[in-house]
Amino acid sequence: MTKAVHIDATDIVIDSEESDTILEAAEKSGYSIPYSCRKGVCSTCLGTLIKGEVQDRSINIKAPADSVYFCQAKPLTDVVIRPTDWTKYDPTSRKKLDAKIKKINWLSTDIAELVLRFPIGVRAIFNAGQYLNIIFDGQTRSYSMANPPHKNAEAVLHVRKYEGGLFSDAFLANASPNEKILVEVPFGDVQLTLDSHEPLIMLATGTGFAPVKSIMENLIHLNIKRPVHFFWGGRHEPDLYMSDLVKSWNEKLDWFTYTPVLSQPPEGWAGETGWVQSAALKHLKGHTQCSVYACGSNKMVSDARDLFIDAGLDIGDFHCDAFVPA
Ligand code: FES
Repeated sequence: MTKAVHIDATDIVIDSEESDTILEAAEKSGYSIPYSCRKGVCSTCLGTLIKGEVQDRSINIKAPADSVYFCQAKPLTDVVIRPTDWTKYDPTSRKKLDAKIKKINWLSTDIAELVLRFPIGVRAIFNAGQYLNIIFDGQTRSYSMANPPHKNAEAVLHVRKYEGGLFSDAFLANASPNEKILVEVPFGDVQLTLDSHEPLIMLATGTGFAPVKSIMENLIHLNIKRPVHFFWGGRHEPDLYMSDLVKSWNEKLDWFTYTPVLSQPPEGWAGETGWVQSAALKHLKGHTQCSVYACGSNKMVSDARDLFIDAGLDIGDFHCDAFVPA
């Protein structure tokens, strides 16, 4: 039986089927609420349950409740919710596409560049910073596009190999060109607002660089000279696996600044040290008129969110893409 999901202080009422999470029901009805991982890990979708009862995985939660994961919660009754934001969304914009592996390049010992091409005449429509889901063995794995939206005959993904990972290890080790892969695209809250001139602070750890690369190549393509300061964090220097490309932006673009951050720097390291989120916060120096994009490990993203919000950043100016090992 369908349940009614009413967004507080609006006249929006969404029908939710029994199997729908609140996030899925909202999207089917043409509304998007903030999300990133869709797996109950990153906290981006947290919102308030004002009336009614939901089930979050195996736990029943009754209103009032402040921190409800809308990507996991399924209404058990009609409910009233207050998400941190909501926007109009076109449910037909997300599509399942058959792709084929074009090539796999190893960018470092454990990071592969996986290039997927779509059938002739088919384009994947996405915004810089968004991600796709690979549907594999009945499960999904999420990867951000590293290519900009205008080069959408293919999808370039940065895949970190995790020991025992179903896709990143088991599949990728034996994959070969022309192998078919089913993808669903696009997803994601990390989307650049093109008409804003506010400075952008971007933080990444590991393959969180992929959406940053897409955003930067989009800005360069559109000749948008919005001030960007990019902080890329890792343990060791090889973790910053495309630093030559980033350094070339730093040299050529007077609106772009790059700060590499290592937690275990080598002797003579000239960049920042410690956590990438702390280095970026130091740069903020109380100037909260900016947009912050954080892409990478869930810990970095949630620490960055807490630090920047505590420092006075508006929650609406914090965007993230939290990665879950796959
Ligand atoms: S926890 Fe819900 S989107 Fe990440």
